[in-house]
Formats: sequence, structure tokens, C-alpha cells
Amino acid sequence: MIKLGVLISGSGTNLQAIIDAISAGTLDAKVVLVISSRPDAFGLKRASEAGIPTIGLSREVYADRDAADALIARKMLDAGAEYIVMAGYMRMVGAPILETYKDRVVNIHPALLPSFPGAHGISDAYNAGVKVTGVTVHFANEAYDQGPIIAQQSLEIREGESLESLEARIHAIEHRIYPATLQLIAEGRVTITQDRKVSIT
Ligand code: GRF
Repeated sequence: MIKLGVLISGSGTNLQAIIDAISAGTLDAKVVLVISSRPDAFGLKRASEAGIPTIGLSREVYADRDAADALIARKMLDAGAEYIVMAGYMRMVGAPILETYKDRVVNIHPALLPSFPGAHGISDAYNAGVKVTGVTVHFANEAYDQGPIIAQQSLEIREGESLESLEARIHAIEHRIYPATLQLIAEGRVTITQDRKVSIT
């Protein structure tokens, strides 16, 4: 069983998928703390309802980014978190977190990285007219959206598909692939090789 600390900023549907997978017994993990970069994030309610301790950080806390990240790292360590799971966390994680949790910060991105990094992966892919997009789970490092890729799943954009439809299908994939990938980590099957690629055994 691995202990996860989850970072969110918004609705927290990926957090919910993780909570549900743990309840269903398909993810051998425990969420020990949820920290939100916004105190009004709906995901905090989901966490509380699941009996998970929460912290909502106000905007002022982030005025000093390093201090905010040091605080987050400290709280996660105190809670016993072994991995940090970014689930719709809309802030960069900086050195204090990345050094404390080296190669143990995981992120999900709603596009096939390295294509369409950034905050609008789904609509950027849609507007570019690509025929295939998808979801990426990767380790976070100091290069934004460029850390070692753990898992990806593609989908074909349908002829005439609306952005809303694509978003719904991307999120459905996210909600399956994130708990499944975390389970691989929980089983100790995910390692980073010397050339900084991910090997899954
Ligand atoms: C997801 O699409 C995730 O890939 C992106 O932000 C969204 C978060 O959604 N980074 P939610 O808060 O988990 O519902």
C-alpha cells in the first residue's frame, strides 16, 4: 500500500477516480492528504467526504513560491505521503517539492505529450486539427510537462466531433488510466532508467 499526497486546484474528478479505485480495491493506496491551491476547490469537498485531511492554500501563500512549495513538501512529509499526485493542480511544482520527492511526483496531462503541453491540452489539440490525441501520465520535473512518461492512451478525434464531446472522452480515459498507473507504482513496477526513461516491468 502506498501513501499518496494529492495536489488539486479544481473540481477533483481525477481525485475522485483515485478515491473510488481505492474503495473498489483496484488501487492499493491511501490518500493521506489533499492540498488545494484554491481554498474553494470542489475537490476539497470530495476529499472531506472520503474522510481525507485537507488543506486549502490561499493565493497569498503563493506570493513566495519557494515558501509555498516548502510548506507543501513539509505538510506532505508530515502526513506520511510517499508520492505526490498532481490531479488538476494548476501551479508549477518547484524545487522544494521536486527535491523532497525526487522522481516521486506524478502528473496527468490531457494530451499526448510532448504535443500540446500547457494548461489547454485538449482544446489546443482540437484546434490544431490533429486526428489523434490522448492522455499522458508522467513524472514531473523542473521542465514543465516534459518529465519521463509513464503511460499514455490515445483516442481518435471523430469527424465533426465537438470540443465538449472530446473533453468528456478524454476525462473518461483519465479516470481509468490514472488509478491504473498509480497501481503499477504501488506494485513497484515503475522505474526510471539511467537515460531517464520509464521502464515498466
Ligand atoms: C484534467 O483534465 C487534468 O488532466 C488537467 O486538469 C484537469 C483536472 O480535472 N491537468 P479534475 O480537477 O481532476 O476534475
